[in-house]
Amino acid sequence: PSAQANHYNYSASVVKPDWVWDENQLVIDGQTEINEQLRMIDFHEGDIHLLHHMRPMISRKIDWIVDSFYQSVLDVSKLEEIIKEHSTVEKLKETLREHLLDMFSGNVDQAFIMKRLKIAKVHKRVGLEPKWYLSAFQNLQNAFLQTIYQEVKDEQLLLQMVRTTTKLLNLEQQLVLE
Ligand code: HEM
Repeated sequence: PSAQANHYNYSASVVKPDWVWDENQLVIDGQTEINEQLRMIDFHEGDIHLLHHMRPMISRKIDWIVDSFYQSVLDVSKLEEIIKEHSTVEKLKETLREHLLDMFSGNVDQAFIMKRLKIAKVHKRVGLEPKWYLSAFQNLQNAFLQTIYQEVKDEQLLLQMVRTTTKLLNLEQQLVLE
């Protein structure tokens, strides 16, 4: 029980997003469907607290996560060409690093969703096909789960973190496929 109590202790320092309370729903492009999407994957206040709690752990491994991500991307010549045409690996490593740490900030609010919809448009513009985008998400998931398994010994907490992480990645994918 102590491990569980631990992560709830962090709640005091977390900014709770508006959508946690039903009276203040998220509105994206004039629509409120995102609230139902969040409800359907059971993404709730507990996940937000846990994300905030997990951030330092992810932060410690961020270089490894980003390096292995780009290693796998560059192994696909088609993807390497897209990167060289539009940017540089060094630049993209820095953007990905920020993006991933932001994912674990726990601030899943209007700005968070809008930012991801914009990033999806950027990838569409450079011609990244959905199959590669989804493969990239799986690669990130592998790295996140490996990090969590290395760092967390409490089984119950481990399960909660795995569940929260997969919900978060699923949410990102929902936004990308829109
Ligand atoms: C740009 C994240 C997969 C190629 C970006 C940006 C972010 C990002 C945050 C900056 C967007 C902006 O300028 O506002 C991600 C995430 C991915 C992913 C989270 C997967 C889960 C990929 C893959 C490729 C790729 C697989 C392979 C080609 C690019 C390129 C840009 C970019 C070329 C720069 C576009 C430009 O500035 O013109 N990505 N990315 N991304 N990404 Fe990704």
